[in-house]
Amino acid sequence: MTRARLFRLSVVLGSVFMILLIIVYWDNVGTAHFYLHTSFSRPHAPGTLPTATQDEDVSDVDEFLEKLLSSGLRQTGPLHRKTEQAPLQGSSKPVLGNLEENVRGYDWSTRVARVSLDQEKLQAERRKTLQEFCANSSFAFPTKERSFDDIPNYELNHLIVDDRHGIIYCYVPKVACTNWKRVMIVLSESLLDQGIPYRQPLDIPREHVHNSSTHLTFNKFWRRYGKFSRHLMKIKLKKYTKFLFVRDPFVRLISAFRSKFELENEEFYRRFAIPMLKLYSNHTSLPTSVSEAFRAGLKVSFSDFIQYLLDPRTEKMAPFNEHWRQVYRLCHPCQIDYDFVGKLETLNEDAAHLLQLLKVDRLLRFPPSYRNRTASSWEEDWFAKIPLAWRQQLYKLYEADFVLFGYPKPENLLKD
Ligand SMILES: *[C@@H]1O[C@H](CO)[C@@H](O)[C@H](O)[C@H]1NC(C)=O
Ligand SMILES: *[C@@H]1O[C@H](CO)[C@@H](O)[C@H](O)[C@H]1NC(C)=O
Ligand SMILES: *[C@@H]1O[C@H](CO)[C@@H](O)[C@H](O)[C@H]1NC(C)=O
Ligand SMILES: *[C@@H]1O[C@H](CO)[C@@H](O)[C@H](O)[C@H]1NC(C)=O
Repeated sequence: MTRARLFRLSVVLGSVFMILLIIVYWDNVGTAHFYLHTSFSRPHAPGTLPTATQDEDVSDVDEFLEKLLSSGLRQTGPLHRKTEQAPLQGSSKPVLGNLEENVRGYDWSTRVARVSLDQEKLQAERRKTLQEFCANSSFAFPTKERSFDDIPNYELNHLIVDDRHGIIYCYVPKVACTNWKRVMIVLSESLLDQGIPYRQPLDIPREHVHNSSTHLTFNKFWRRYGKFSRHLMKIKLKKYTKFLFVRDPFVRLISAFRSKFELENEEFYRRFAIPMLKLYSNHTSLPTSVSEAFRAGLKVSFSDFIQYLLDPRTEKMAPFNEHWRQVYRLCHPCQIDYDFVGKLETLNEDAAHLLQLLKVDRLLRFPPSYRNRTASSWEEDWFAKIPLAWRQQLYKLYEADFVLFGYPKPENLLKD
């Protein structure tokens, strides 16, 4: 009798154990779908890393999606592998200096290692600042609290994707963006010159660089991948190296003003200068072409420009033009966990380090820039005629960019 009861008991216990196993198993499978919907909506709080389970769950779905969409995505065929070797001889051409140092037994490797260590510390600090202020609930700005899913597609039009190397670049106009776009074109081979992809960034004509049809940006995913587009974006955001370049917000505004209103620019004259001159300088009839206007001495002043930025009517008509739109609105730094934050103030060092990080430093060099760059030291002169109250309002408007990217508050401009 007791033996039979023992047997029955063990059968029951065994069944219960099996049922438990099945429940646990189904639970795991179920979470894969759950995580995909939720785990990316906010960057990780500082110090917490994504857990292993999330990673595994994502990679299953990732594989599935990659297979499903491979036709549009996979461009890294054997053909590209072959051509990637080609520019190696070319890229060492302009750097005779390095060559010489190698020949003389210059210990290049340790130097690179030391530079990278300092650079890594700098990057860690910039990312920490960003993460801390994103997580700090007493520091608020518009759109800060929304999740990645709440960002409309058209606001993702500054994120350029290179699937060949797994890179995402958020471009900020007036922050070396022409040259970084050139780099992205070379890396992704998205533009051909007589059937051959461009190899040297500076060979690419300017008008092609800024033609949005040259770049694969996130806002185009919807058209290509339909309802899979958000999943795909999140997978890429998780796996790819994401970078952006920023600059002192006020200096960026001066730079935007100089290039769009001090130089003859037909488009900006029609779209922005005419309304500004009418609204803020009492002009009623204005020439239709910018060259006529310049000949007649009709130019937007920096003060008109600042007034335009502060005018509440401006945003009601249309969002800020990308040349003066805040970086936090262009690149969503609290929703996207950037791996690298470059600064124009340290462009050369940052560019060299970034290309190393991306493992493409043997393919190309960041083009040197010869243009007359707006210097921070001019700031006081530019703002001298701007009333104090306006400067303070302007700071409020761009405060998030100052704080998130670690630019000190310009106290000298904000006090009497
Ligand atoms: C959070 O932000 C507020 C306001 O900017 C600041 O005073 C405070 O020091 C920040 N807290 C932390 C922990 O960084
Ligand atoms: C941009 O490039 C596309 C395709 O090459 C071309 O059809 C279009 O005219 C270009 N747009 C401009 C403004 O140059
Ligand atoms: C423009 O005209 C208005 C009234 O018509 C006047 O109050 C204002 O001071 C004028 N502004 C300038 C810059 O002349
Ligand atoms: C650069 O531009 C500033 C102001 O527009 C001008 O004062 C300066 O002379 C220029 N420098 C060069 C080297 O062209």
